[in-house]
Amino acid sequence: IIITSSLSQSNHEQFCDAGTKIPSSKLLIKGGTVVNAHHQQIADVYVEDSIIVAVNSNIRVGDDVTIIDAAGKYVMPGGIDPHSHLDFDVVFTTTVDDFFSGQAAALAGGTTMHIDFVIPLNGSLTAGFEDYQKKAKKSCMDYGFHMVITKWDETVSREMELIVKEKGINSFKFFMAYKEALMINDELLLEGFKKCKSLGALAMVHAENGDAVYEGQKKMIELGITGPEGHALSRPAVLEGEATARAIRLADFVNTPLYVVHVMSIEAMEEIAKARKSGQRVIGEPIASGLALDESWLWHPDFETAAKYVMSPPIRKRGHDKALQAALSTGILQLVGTDHCAFNSTQKARGIDDFRKIPNGVNGIEERMHLVWDTMVESGQISVTDYVRLTSTECARIFNIYPRKGAILPGSDADIIILNPNSSFEISAKSHHSRLDTNVYEGRRGKGKIEVTIAGGRVVWENNELKVARGTGRYIKMAPFSYVFDGLEKKDAIYLNSLEAPVNRSKNNSSKISDF
Ligand code: URP
Ligand code: ZN
Ligand code: ZN
Ligand code: ZN
Repeated sequence: IIITSSLSQSNHEQFCDAGTKIPSSKLLIKGGTVVNAHHQQIADVYVEDSIIVAVNSNIRVGDDVTIIDAAGKYVMPGGIDPHSHLDFDVVFTTTVDDFFSGQAAALAGGTTMHIDFVIPLNGSLTAGFEDYQKKAKKSCMDYGFHMVITKWDETVSREMELIVKEKGINSFKFFMAYKEALMINDELLLEGFKKCKSLGALAMVHAENGDAVYEGQKKMIELGITGPEGHALSRPAVLEGEATARAIRLADFVNTPLYVVHVMSIEAMEEIAKARKSGQRVIGEPIASGLALDESWLWHPDFETAAKYVMSPPIRKRGHDKALQAALSTGILQLVGTDHCAFNSTQKARGIDDFRKIPNGVNGIEERMHLVWDTMVESGQISVTDYVRLTSTECARIFNIYPRKGAILPGSDADIIILNPNSSFEISAKSHHSRLDTNVYEGRRGKGKIEVTIAGGRVVWENNELKVARGTGRYIKMAPFSYVFDGLEKKDAIYLNSLEAPVNRSKNNSSKISDF
């Protein structure tokens, strides 16, 4: 009852139809195939006051309950996007999607939670956190935060502890690229990894060699290559592979788990595969654009078209997309994000004479669930249960909010989607819900359509209509020491034990060495 009352407030946005009947807070989703990461079954799902109360066959209810027929359709946990940038300030501008429009777009595409990156404010993590708390007040869906680390000193180290223990953040991102802006060096990376480990927080890296990228960019400009294709040419996959390998080695040295964000290339993916084969705890996150696009757009003769594909690391040549899909389907990579970071064509036009000035980022928060379904399930590469794992459950487990999120189980939050496998989707800037004037997936069609999104127990997307209200999204605190840390202390103890027997160097021994 409380949850729906906000729909009648005056500050609701353009998406919500005036005069809509206030929906019941009790819902019964009838006869669908309920899919969790571990199991699927035909069942009814009963929701009361934003929580899933029962999953069972033939649940009978009173007439105060709204019934949604899901026969022949999949009933799945809402998507969780581990990687977005809403209301993100870059030097000269801000992304067009804020915490309201980006989340509204997400809900229309079946995503019911996202984790955004807090940027420190004037070097302060706490100030950055408070800044993002303000930005997120207008939220219409649940969200969590990662924190970016851009410098190192005693204050940052102490603030990291506060952020984890009091603010509900359990991951920190380090940028190995963006020289003269966010980039950090290996010394900071090591300090950061050690601190993450002690706090049970997950270290995340943007893995590109920023010094080499800087050189590559200068070289392209000297060669007179100033267009968007220069972006791809200046930061080739070898630089992503190098940084991924370096971050993995340093995380191994510290013995802490590592999460590699936006894995865009075979080179980076192979480093993750190698590390995982050797038993290292490395998580790889491909994103929608890396799985579904290739770099050829960057050579498009129309600047506006080409510029919308500029993001870092760059979208790679055809072949990388297929390899990343295969890696996802075989467990080398673990979950799918978007890196949604929306700049419109006016903002992108800043780099018309110099690709280095094109703001980096592509859309995806609204498209991810459909693209993964079409690319991975419809092509026969993964099962429907895998789909739930890769788009929702694994994210919830890694960031320690399972089974509140990422599952259709009694007691879980009622974040639910209904997907019709016999219907189809079509993507266009004309019909999407982001504030972008463009879409990198313009014209793309595919099978599978998310017909209903339920967030926090409310039907927010149905009959191609959004009913969202500002201020209804909640901040989801995430506790440290998720399952990726389980048993890590035992590995440390075994290593320390192995050091305890000192080498015995008697006089006799040293004379032997001189013989040698
Ligand atoms: O181009 C990108 N990826 N922009 C967003 C910032 C980042 O590196 O994730
Ligand atoms: Zn309205
Ligand atoms: Zn990044
Ligand atoms: Zn990003």
